[in-house]
Amino acid sequence: MSSTTSRPQPHPPAPGVDGPGGSVRDWLEGLPLLRADPPPFDPEDAPADPLELFLAWLGDAVAAGVPDPHALTLATVDPAGRPDARVVVLRDVDESALWVASSAVSPKGRQLDRVPVAALVFHWPQRGRQVRVRGGVRLADPERTAADFLGRPAQVRADALVARQSEALRHEGELADELGDATDLLRVEPHVVAPTWRLWGVDASRLEFWQASGDGQHLRLRYDRDESGGHRQTRLWP
Ligand SMILES: Cc1cc2nc3c(=O)[nH]c(=O)nc-3n(C[C@H](O)[C@H](O)[C@H](O)COP(=O)(O)O)c2cc1C
Repeated sequence: MSSTTSRPQPHPPAPGVDGPGGSVRDWLEGLPLLRADPPPFDPEDAPADPLELFLAWLGDAVAAGVPDPHALTLATVDPAGRPDARVVVLRDVDESALWVASSAVSPKGRQLDRVPVAALVFHWPQRGRQVRVRGGVRLADPERTAADFLGRPAQVRADALVARQSEALRHEGELADELGDATDLLRVEPHVVAPTWRLWGVDASRLEFWQASGDGQHLRLRYDRDESGGHRQTRLWP
């Protein structure tokens, strides 16, 4: 970790060049990191249920005005074991899972269908906090999936009806034409649900709460589900 109080240069030097402006490596080293003053957190007082702590930290991020506090990185793997990751939004939290949604025919949808495991990362820089989640993935039932879909903005629903996320776009006209057709359909049938829409629950079998500390002794608390359905807590080295 590095930090600085001087103003960082906004533009990086050219890659591979070590001139008067320094190298990209020097430039990166000079960028500020973990500047937030994290709120009080005593792992000794952490609740038994990790999802209770997760919601408390998410609520704290919302109250602190962290932008997109419910955005997370969703990591998946394909059948060859190659990892993939992208940002999505958190759609729900219940007793045992964190829920995210997308198209079954997108790369992530195909990956989750073939290899139903995922990792999630939330990062709230203004609070010096990170939460990591790993677990198996299951599909929501059709009613819950439909409710999620119908709660999405019209633009997202139109995209999902076209169901071509991450395909090669040949030209802008193609996008406009297909989205136009889907938008027309939604106007006539506002309750239509895209058959390819999916809501996935990531089982909260392992969660880690990470909080920065000015002295580098970052606080880490991991929860692992045990045989009784409760969670074992473990403090981790920073
Ligand atoms: C803040 C933010 C939120 C996003 N939320 C979603 C989402 O909830 N679902 C989704 O399918 N894509 C979402 N995206 C787009 C994804 O990051 C990604 O580009 C898209 O889902 C295609 O991913 P894939 O090719 O790995 O399937 C979001 C992107 C950003 C930056």
